[in-house]
Amino acid sequence: MPEAATAPSAAPPDVVNLERRVKRHVHAPVHGWFAACAPGVEPVLVVEARALGLEDVAAIPGGVTFWGKLEAGYRANLHLRTANRVWLRVMDFSARAPEDVYREAHECPWEAFLPAGVPLLVQASTSRSRLFGGGFLGRPLRDAIARHLRALGLPDPTWVDSPAEDVVDESDPETSPVPLQRLLARLDGNRLTLSLDSSGELLHRRGFRLEHGGAPLRETLAATILLAAGYDGTRVLADPMCGSGTFGVEAAAIARHLPPGRSRDFLFRHWPSDRAATWEHLRRLAGVAALDAAPAPILCRDVDATVLDLARSHAMRAGVGPDIRFEAADFFTTPAPDLPPGLVVLNPPYGLRQDAGDDPVAFFRRVGRRLTSAWWGWSVAVVAPSPAAADALGLRAPRHLHLSHGGLRVTVVLAQA
Ligand SMILES: C[S@@+](CC[C@H](N)C(=O)[O-])C[C@H]1O[C@@H](n2cnc3c(N)ncnc32)[C@H](O)[C@@H]1O
Repeated sequence: MPEAATAPSAAPPDVVNLERRVKRHVHAPVHGWFAACAPGVEPVLVVEARALGLEDVAAIPGGVTFWGKLEAGYRANLHLRTANRVWLRVMDFSARAPEDVYREAHECPWEAFLPAGVPLLVQASTSRSRLFGGGFLGRPLRDAIARHLRALGLPDPTWVDSPAEDVVDESDPETSPVPLQRLLARLDGNRLTLSLDSSGELLHRRGFRLEHGGAPLRETLAATILLAAGYDGTRVLADPMCGSGTFGVEAAAIARHLPPGRSRDFLFRHWPSDRAATWEHLRRLAGVAALDAAPAPILCRDVDATVLDLARSHAMRAGVGPDIRFEAADFFTTPAPDLPPGLVVLNPPYGLRQDAGDDPVAFFRRVGRRLTSAWWGWSVAVVAPSPAAADALGLRAPRHLHLSHGGLRVTVVLAQA
């Protein structure tokens, strides 16, 4: 909840002064960045980040680090398909007690990073620190930021206490013109890193999904599976149980080189340092690199015609409707399409009653048999709910990825039918 805001004690810094600080502290330096991802995605994200030309890319548990000026963060947010969020490392110092946190954080030029009066959530985490826990980090940080800003005659941030995602999602643009800003305070041993969220809503929210009651894959997970399977848009892609069409839409975007962030807003666009011309330039470059149509067929099938309508509207909203062929078909009775074999991706239902009964292992055995009989010669990527279900597929030369989907651990099998 908001802390008692005090009346500004001095005249606000004039615009030129603020511009100078932004230039000095945000535009000029090379910053450390952290692109966070779901567990297991790191090896795919690191390849993506390098292919994007980001510098000094290194994988660490939970994501990849890279270095670059503000523009590198813009590019990461616009182009990375498998990252959840991109953090800007603001400062990094040794902290043995709350006084250290206050003293160092008070020196940070927050006015150059944060919009005045922004709703701010401080998220603290500690590991390997015997001195103080995450709960003790928030107070000195808030005090340091507020006092630093007050000394410049700027208002306190509006403190937000709940880390719930819906604080962001349900913010009403009428009443909350500036989206929630997150400050992550991570204490590892005695080293405290302060990072600002440059993304806002999680990056799997591309800005065009239509909500429905099914069990859609996150776009980031679908992109991870496609990229891990080596999909680059030049061979045929089929999803015979497409649901809302996440694989098809992500595949079309990969095939046409459309950036995943093309239709959404980002927090960095609300920062005092925002460079509209840089952003427009990056979007223009992406537009020039994009293909008018996917170079190879993309086929989405589902047994449920209602779900197919949803997938079709989803694809239209994403601007890739004409790239995807939609067909109502039962996987177990319809032959593979009469196309050169490419990649078949499957996210079968599980936990639901199937012809094979409630037993997911028996159901996945049936899926595997159908793949080897009807889809012979195709590369395969199947999302299985357990290692046992993955093994039951019985596919040739399997490689396993261990990822999470809706809070559950899943095994993705990459193999040959
Ligand atoms: C878990 S959902 C797929 C979700 C999808 N990956 C998405 O992101 O929205 C499984 C889908 O398989 C479809 N399905 C189930 N049995 C099928 C069958 N025999 N043939 C084709 N589709 C089937 C269901 O209608 C459902 O839409």
